[in-house]
This record gives sequence, C-alpha cells and structure tokens, in this order.
Amino acid sequence: MSTNTSLMESLHAANPKWKESLETGHQVIDRQHRELLGKIDALLMACSQGKGKEEVGRMMVFLNAYVQYHFEEEEKFQRWNEFPALVAHKGQHDTLLSMLRDLEKQFQEDGGTIAVLANSLKLTYFWLKEHIFKADQDMVQYARSRGKVRH
Ligand SMILES: [Fe+2]
Ligand SMILES: [Fe+2]
Repeated sequence: MSTNTSLMESLHAANPKWKESLETGHQVIDRQHRELLGKIDALLMACSQGKGKEEVGRMMVFLNAYVQYHFEEEEKFQRWNEFPALVAHKGQHDTLLSMLRDLEKQFQEDGGTIAVLANSLKLTYFWLKEHIFKADQDMVQYARSRGKVRH
C-alpha cells in the first residue's frame, strides 16, 4: 500500500506539464514538444492508474516513434541552418532515444514492473526537459540570429 502511495506522490511530483519557459519560439517545434510531454504525462498517468502492461507497452511504442520523428525533424532543421552544434545536439538525441528504447525493450521483454517504468520515465522526462530548455532553445536562437526560423 505504501509503495503505491509513494509511487503516486512521485508521479505527481514529476508533473510533466508544459511551461512557457520551455518555449523556443519556433511554433512547429514547440507544438511537437507539447505533444511529446503530453504523451509522457499520459503514460505516467496510465502507470499511476494501474493500467495493464499491454496498454502501457502500446503507449510506450507510440511515444518512442513520436520522439524519433521529432528528433529527425530537428536534425533536418539544423542541417538546413548549418547549426554548428549539430553533432553534439544529435548525440543528446541519440542518448535519449536509446534510453527510451531500452525502457521499452526491458518493459516488454522482461516484464518490468509499472513502478520501475514510471521511475525510469521520470528520469527520462527530466533529462528531456533539460534538453528542451537548453539545447533546443540554443538551436532556435541560432536559427533566429541567421534569420532562418520558419514556422
Ligand atoms: Fe526537441
Ligand atoms: Fe533537440
């Protein structure tokens, strides 16, 4: 019982809601970020509401596909802009993506518990937020300095 209570509390504390300070000013990228954090939020909610592994696993597959799509879109934008930190930025994308893939694989193959998934997702979420807050904002700022922000 206490495990469930503390899981609920920690999920609530993760609170992956969109904040204005996370906005980059690029409308398409910001919309994708909101969508992405929304998917993580829904996944954490599903975990906290005790949804079945099958449903949570399915949501995980959709989240990972969306993250991959989003990262590819950003990398295209960076190539178009000749963004100098492209390699470092892509390195962060690759790390995040492999964290999410590992989570999905572990969850679906080894039957990891919902609590483990929720805690790992929370970590991923905080890292993702850090990435949006710094690297993604730098990327859009650079594009803007070159007059190359397209919406
Ligand atoms: Fe991003
Ligand atoms: Fe990024």
